[in-house]
Amino acid sequence: TTWHSSDIDHVIVSEEQIREKTADLAKQVAADHADAESILLVGVLKGAVMFMADFARALGRVGPPVEMEFMAVTSYGQGTTSSGVVRILKDLDRDIAGRHVIVVEDIVDSGLTLSWLLKYLESRSAAQVDVVALLRKPDALRVSIPVRYVGFDIPNEFVVGYGLDYAERYRDLPFVGVLKPSVYGRG
Ligand code: PRP
Ligand code: MN
Ligand code: MG
Repeated sequence: TTWHSSDIDHVIVSEEQIREKTADLAKQVAADHADAESILLVGVLKGAVMFMADFARALGRVGPPVEMEFMAVTSYGQGTTSSGVVRILKDLDRDIAGRHVIVVEDIVDSGLTLSWLLKYLESRSAAQVDVVALLRKPDALRVSIPVRYVGFDIPNEFVVGYGLDYAERYRDLPFVGVLKPSVYGRG
């Protein structure tokens, strides 16, 4: 146990659950895109970095050739609730016109980040845009965002690990968990 995993109150999704679910999701995506020449994954930095790396490898084993792009956007800043403002910190490097795009997200919470991103990718003339998200919170169901592939529906608690941060920490934990309340006062 490292100093920071002792900040975790309880685990929500274990490392093994993540691994199994990632393989399942890759099989679903591969089956649905069996006739695609290639799939362009767009990972949403920074939170999706772990899931992107594992999902791309899982999909590459069972599906069409995979290409990887990254965008960095942020809506949360330092806090635990969405600021309501999405900023592009890093844009796409390449033209995505006519491509089959799958947005790879770690979590959909308010849905603000994704709804903004989907509009943006459509404005860049992608042929088809699907979303794979490892985690989804209940609020996401209240907005009409087509998240075609979802790993786990989780309770409305602030979670960290496997890419997800609190004030940039805990992204390196291999599981997803809930922080002890005492941690919030510290920052
Ligand atoms: C987090 C998370 C998602 C988004 C989900 O990113 O990684 O991208 O918030 O929240 P929403 O559905 O309410 O928009 P964050 O803005 O914290 O940036 P990060 O990925 O760099 O941590
Ligand atoms: Mn994010
Ligand atoms: Mg964050």
